[in-house]
Amino acid sequence: MKKLFAAMIVACLPVFAFANTAGVHLDKVDIDLTDKAAMQDGARTFANYCMGCHGAKFQRYERVADDLGVPHEVMLENLVFTGGKIGDHMQSSMRSEDAKGWFGAAPPDLTLVARVRGNDWLYSYLRSFYEDPSRPLGANNTVFHNVGMPNVLVGLQGRQYMGCKQVQVVEDGKKQYDPLTGTPITHKACDQLVVEPKTGSLSEEEFDEKIKNLVTFLAYSANPVKLESQRIGTYVLLYLAFFFVFAYLLKREYWKDVH
Ligand code: HEC
Repeated sequence: MKKLFAAMIVACLPVFAFANTAGVHLDKVDIDLTDKAAMQDGARTFANYCMGCHGAKFQRYERVADDLGVPHEVMLENLVFTGGKIGDHMQSSMRSEDAKGWFGAAPPDLTLVARVRGNDWLYSYLRSFYEDPSRPLGANNTVFHNVGMPNVLVGLQGRQYMGCKQVQVVEDGKKQYDPLTGTPITHKACDQLVVEPKTGSLSEEEFDEKIKNLVTFLAYSANPVKLESQRIGTYVLLYLAFFFVFAYLLKREYWKDVH
């Protein structure tokens, strides 16, 4: 009986591990870790909009500059605001004790966040802040309920709030279309994120692109050797293929006299 109980608990563990994201719809993002322009844009957004509170302390400016193809002077001028040197770690100047008092939670280091949360989660989270007057800083998030982080990208995205929108009807996981005309069947839903037009400096598509670039940068940051490993992997396979030819010729040579 005890054993059965233990087995049941073990079987449930993965469910508990994912419980904090259960029920939240995540938008998919398709990132390209070889797109240096995207990562440069993401790094710029990160330095300008995130590093006031968050650091990426396992990462050095120099390494990022070299990996992303940014000259050191350009990096120092445009991305290093703390008066730091090119060899410094990307630390935030905010003290975490202060931050805890201000926001209720200290902003975590973001070097590895893409590995912990995943790209889709980050992409969805950063686009899901909305106005909520009941929160101390006036902002809430549909992916991370009652988040302590203020809506720092509101100037780019515009004012997003919870409102009503026509959305397509989905039954049993299938989007519904009118059988006669083929047009999507919609209904009015009032738990939708809506952006007040003309309140942000970017259009919806431009904002999504900006966030995609930022997520690409964070994904790179969480695994800076990934590209390098793939490159080396290719060489290893090429070497094996090349070596195979000689191994085969040698085998033929050895077996020539046996028959
Ligand atoms: C004004 C300070 C501030 C700024 C600027 C800021 N954040 Fe935050 N962020 C926070 C705080 C505080 C939390 C912790 C929220 C909590 O736990 O409730 C947080 C949490 C997060 C989390 C969730 C981490 C986790 O796994 O729990 C992510 C991801 C994140 N921020 C990304 C960003 C990005 C990307 C930017 C730049 C676009 C940014 N933040 C800018 C204060 C800030």
